[in-house]
Amino acid sequence: MDIKTVGVVGCGLMGSGIAQVCAEGGYKVIVREVNEDLLKKGLGKIESFLTKGVEKGKVTPERKAEVLGRLEGTTSLEKFAACDIVIVVVVESVQVKHDLYQALDRICPAHTIFASNTSSLSITEMAAVTKRADRFVGMHFFNPVPLMKLTEVVRSPLTSPEAFEKAFAFAKSLGKTPIRATDRSGFIVNRLLVPYLLDAIRALEEGVGSIAHIDEGMRLGCGYPMGPFTLLDFVGLDTTYYIANIMFDEFREKRFASPPLLKRMVQAGLHGKKSGKGFYDYSQDPPQPMAGLV
Ligand code: 3HC
Repeated sequence: MDIKTVGVVGCGLMGSGIAQVCAEGGYKVIVREVNEDLLKKGLGKIESFLTKGVEKGKVTPERKAEVLGRLEGTTSLEKFAACDIVIVVVVESVQVKHDLYQALDRICPAHTIFASNTSSLSITEMAAVTKRADRFVGMHFFNPVPLMKLTEVVRSPLTSPEAFEKAFAFAKSLGKTPIRATDRSGFIVNRLLVPYLLDAIRALEEGVGSIAHIDEGMRLGCGYPMGPFTLLDFVGLDTTYYIANIMFDEFREKRFASPPLLKRMVQAGLHGKKSGKGFYDYSQDPPQPMAGLV
């Protein structure tokens, strides 16, 4: 059966971006949040991104209206009975995800493919709590979803080739470049990215360079769009810490072990851009490197 209607569970930073690109791809999208406030906030993010697009001359007002017209917000899971694929984009809690997939398994028709946008949890473990493990894939998008071109499409040992290819083609139809990965914590990108980010923190702890100079080094020396500390603040220090712990748990290798500074910053509530302070202080314009971290 062709994919016509997409369900997105979760309308936070990543969920709203995924719902937006699915609507931009021409699909009818049902997006769910747990309450009306969060739903309004999430749909507001999509509207404001499209409004900025119009201001930048990248999106026409007609296109904006068309994309918004394909989105339906809900606080109920029952609506997902109409979906051909459901992407779950919620907090990285194994229990929350298991409960959701079991509920969706009861609600959705047999042909519906289940996808998870998890960055590091096991696709296989989630698939195994459903009765459709053969129709279960990982679809890992990157932040900011509307601008980043990549989607990792992940198969577990139980994923059928048909479901995998369907998800791969679906990612392509969203204008993304999909890559194939097997179910190992962090897949391809985070497996390489997370040790790099953690190493930047270790270099700072060891006094190899300052926050600004390590960032500038990687930006100008390697052509990366953001240096590691800007990227850590952008992704969220709490998120990076959480992913690193899951990856360390899976591989038991030092390269995935969180440096003490990252743990202390998370404990201190310095979560990066979203909390106003991380490796940089965002109350200043332009943001200034935080003093006193090491
Ligand atoms: N609507 C339409 N187009 C828009 C837009 C909007 N609202 N906002 C921006 N754009 C367009 C711009 O016009 C521009 O287009 P152009 O290249 O044709 O001129 C392009 O998008 C880039 O926008 P900006 O010029 O405003 O911004 P930057 O050039 O500074 O790029 C960035 C911003 C894309 C975020 C870039 O800094 C970047 O790539 N950073 C790295 C991000 C990254 O690494 N993300 C991955 C994080 S890891 C992850 O997500 C995995 C998880 O598991 C942890």
